[in-house]
Amino acid sequence: MYNEMNLDKIDINLEPPTEEPARQYFFMAKCRAWVKEYEKNHNYLPSACVVNMGCQMNARDSEKLLGVLRAVGYQITDSEEADFVIYNTCTVRENANLKVYGRLGFLKTRKKKNPNMKIALCGCMMQEPVVVEKIKASYRFVDIIFGTHNIYKLAELIYENIVSKQMIVDIWESTDRIVEELPNKRKYPFKSGVNIMFGCNNFCSYCIVPYVRGRERSREPQDILREIRDLAADGVVEIMLLGQNVNSYGKSLKEPISFAELLRQCAQIEGIERIRFMTPHPKDLSEELIDVIKSSKKICKQIHLPLQSGSSRILKQMNRRYTKEQYLSLVERIRAAIPEVSLTTDIIVGFPGETEEDFEETLDVVRAVQFDSAFTFIYSKRTGTPAAEMEDQVPEEVVKVRFDRLLKEIQQISSKLTKQGVGKTEQVLVEEINAQSPELVTGRLENNLLVHFPGDASYIGQLVPVTLTEAKGFYYLGECVR
Ligand code: 5AD
Ligand code: SF4
Repeated sequence: MYNEMNLDKIDINLEPPTEEPARQYFFMAKCRAWVKEYEKNHNYLPSACVVNMGCQMNARDSEKLLGVLRAVGYQITDSEEADFVIYNTCTVRENANLKVYGRLGFLKTRKKKNPNMKIALCGCMMQEPVVVEKIKASYRFVDIIFGTHNIYKLAELIYENIVSKQMIVDIWESTDRIVEELPNKRKYPFKSGVNIMFGCNNFCSYCIVPYVRGRERSREPQDILREIRDLAADGVVEIMLLGQNVNSYGKSLKEPISFAELLRQCAQIEGIERIRFMTPHPKDLSEELIDVIKSSKKICKQIHLPLQSGSSRILKQMNRRYTKEQYLSLVERIRAAIPEVSLTTDIIVGFPGETEEDFEETLDVVRAVQFDSAFTFIYSKRTGTPAAEMEDQVPEEVVKVRFDRLLKEIQQISSKLTKQGVGKTEQVLVEEINAQSPELVTGRLENNLLVHFPGDASYIGQLVPVTLTEAKGFYYLGECVR
């Protein structure tokens, strides 16, 4: 495996190779020599920390960054007191950006105490030119800035910074390349995200993602399947296939393949017990996909199906390319095929022009579908998106009231549905010792809900049958019946 590649065998006095990933392994070896030297001079091994601020895609990127840092020889830590701190940023909503500036202030004081400290910023927020200009002007203590298209270059960028002692800024506007076979360090030994595609072509009018993650690019199925086989061999039992719209996976490959077919092939891999995926767009979720989910034991009967709004008028303004009726009919078809399916969603409140009637339509869909859970967001204006230019931005006070009404409705439904699970015995993948009560372990059901039950560290990473004894709104208490 790439994680076990012996960097000490690379001759770092040669010229760097031009092809990837050999070039990055060369720079990892260079940086590793530097880290060893640092350890000799300071009498301790420098530590590194990656702070993940975004979605699952972002979390998987962080694992790749950690893989490089570990190969380079850094001691990996969760603490921002580290000698090297990387913020992997998100920019989907304005407050994600504000948080980064706030935390940079904290890092500035830390760097004053430890002048050897390095700070890097990467991820979606760095793909916005105004952000990079602001950091270059007002946050001069940042050492490295890179984006979403070149995270694989971390080792090379660290090395450039070591040599030049200058702020390194490397942002690409787009890319058509996918570099395979780089190291990564998983957060959980037993489960992992797997990128199947990058970027997005949908251009929902509120969303900044297509601008910061670029156009859709699918990985070759054989690369994905090989990665999953390697993960299974390394003890992974659950995978989450990741893409901005998994339904369009494979369409632009030289040999096109559907997402449903990819899922079918993933389900054949021995050792993988659970398969999840995120996110399918309601506009093009195929019958073939419903069929595959229905017929495979390994594919979790849980679908995250972002609604965004229940008003066909607002959906049109959002450029979602489905109506309220089409969404409801899709839900009906899914439920007819897979009656036990758990449906979850994302909803935005306060999109420009949203009236009380539009909002009532959203509540109507929420009641009709009975989502197991929903992520609710207050619309955030993202400069550069078409919605930011729209008139009729909804006043904050109105949005807040609607948001609270929606939340209440969703919580009532979730808690009612959770109660219906009490008494059932279901498979739980155990994730960790419970932080508050160490005599309990915490795991996830097929529908992704959390369950706490008595157990010890030997359960971690195992799928065990648990009887759900008590519903607590969004989670359960249970008893293992193994
Ligand atoms: N404002 C609020 N929420 C947004 N999302 C995406 N863009 C915005 C925005 N500008 C939400 C959508 C998406 C989720 C990941 O984030 O609901 O599904
Ligand atoms: Fe994920 Fe989008 Fe945030 Fe990027 S901007 S981290 S793709 S949610």
